[in-house]
Amino acid sequence: MSDFVITPVGGLAGAPSLPGDKSIAHRAAILAAIADGDSILANFPESADPQSTLSVLGQLGVPIVTERDGVHVEGVGIDGLVKPETPLDCGNSGTTMRLMAGVLSGCPFESTLVGDESLSQRPMNRIADPLRKMGARVDLVDGLPPVTIVGGNLKPIDYDLPVASAQVKSCILLAGLSVDEPTTVFESIQTRDHTERMLGLDSILIGGKRAISSSSGDRPGGRTWVIPKDFSAAAFFLAAGSIIPNSKLVLQGVGINPTRTGLLTVLRAMGAELTVINERSFSGENIADIGVESAPLHGLAVSEEIVPNIIDELPILAVAATQASGTTIVRGAGELRVKESDRIHAIVSNLTILGADITEHEDGFEIHGPTRLRGGHVDSFNDHRIAMVMSIAGLVADGQTVVRGGECADVSFPGFLREIENLSVEKIA
Ligand code: S3P
Repeated sequence: MSDFVITPVGGLAGAPSLPGDKSIAHRAAILAAIADGDSILANFPESADPQSTLSVLGQLGVPIVTERDGVHVEGVGIDGLVKPETPLDCGNSGTTMRLMAGVLSGCPFESTLVGDESLSQRPMNRIADPLRKMGARVDLVDGLPPVTIVGGNLKPIDYDLPVASAQVKSCILLAGLSVDEPTTVFESIQTRDHTERMLGLDSILIGGKRAISSSSGDRPGGRTWVIPKDFSAAAFFLAAGSIIPNSKLVLQGVGINPTRTGLLTVLRAMGAELTVINERSFSGENIADIGVESAPLHGLAVSEEIVPNIIDELPILAVAATQASGTTIVRGAGELRVKESDRIHAIVSNLTILGADITEHEDGFEIHGPTRLRGGHVDSFNDHRIAMVMSIAGLVADGQTVVRGGECADVSFPGFLREIENLSVEKIA
């Protein structure tokens, strides 16, 4: 993995080209594969994670061809998936592993999902428990991957999510597609709702919890999915455009699903200059163009309820907070410790190297700003978001910043560094 070398810029200006939404891409690929009928996935990202989902589906006998207008998937139906010859390699992608575990639980053969070093350390009991309740055999090694599944003959369950996780919710709803009677998931804190939107599932409130049900009657048909630009990729530029003086950026065609855009709410409350225009609807998701201009920010306490909605953006929020006046506090975000890296440790240790005033909590962090950061050697921890977050920090730091292994940004945003270079306004010393 090569390093990223970052030098400060005099501003960022223009319209970055963004990858398609990673969460929606995984789901579109899976739904297309298990559909009765063919699908086209337009604007499917070249990022490593969604590509892992395509290759796993290919191993399960789904014909997939990438053409100019998108990825063409011949739907084989859940019953048409075939026993793979070799372990299913999910690469770095937790979404691939957890969602595919749900699908495979409906299949009457043995399959094993494996991942890279990072994914092999991520907790899987959260999906094994409900899938076992449904009747699947799920074997883990000390709660971790590889995940070996022997599925088929599932029974419906009612399941209260013990952890606010869209991956767990989606895993169960996908398993529910193999059962005639409804399986119901209850969530007390709203997590991203792409799966239910894409399957056309309603949610109802029962005792203050959202209840979402799926059954075999909800199996999808073939169709065209147009994948919006990824809000989580836009997030790096929303923060960078806010904190780098003389910046003016437009993020075009970005998904603004309200279960994903907590960063807009938080940055606005910190004083950011953000405009959302040209809102339109696209394959059941709203998209818009988002403008950002540099503005003085102030710190705040992020409310715990919004955490699942901003979970992937908390690391970049931390960088913004180093440039905001006052204190920013994030708590209730312990899930950050079990992402592609321990993201609390990663941001605290890296930002400390650059001179930030940041304190680590078990479930979050606290930052006092503004601080003039100084360049240094930081680590990507082999985590794509940490690589990009520390690159943005490098743009506001004095001197040079080296992000070790920065190239892992390709997991969700190939060409990230090139975009930064294209948008950079030269710094006048
Ligand atoms: C995702 C859900 C979130 C998020 C991840 C993608 C998804 O994970 O952090 O990047 O596509 O469902 P959890 O479900 O573990 O919270």
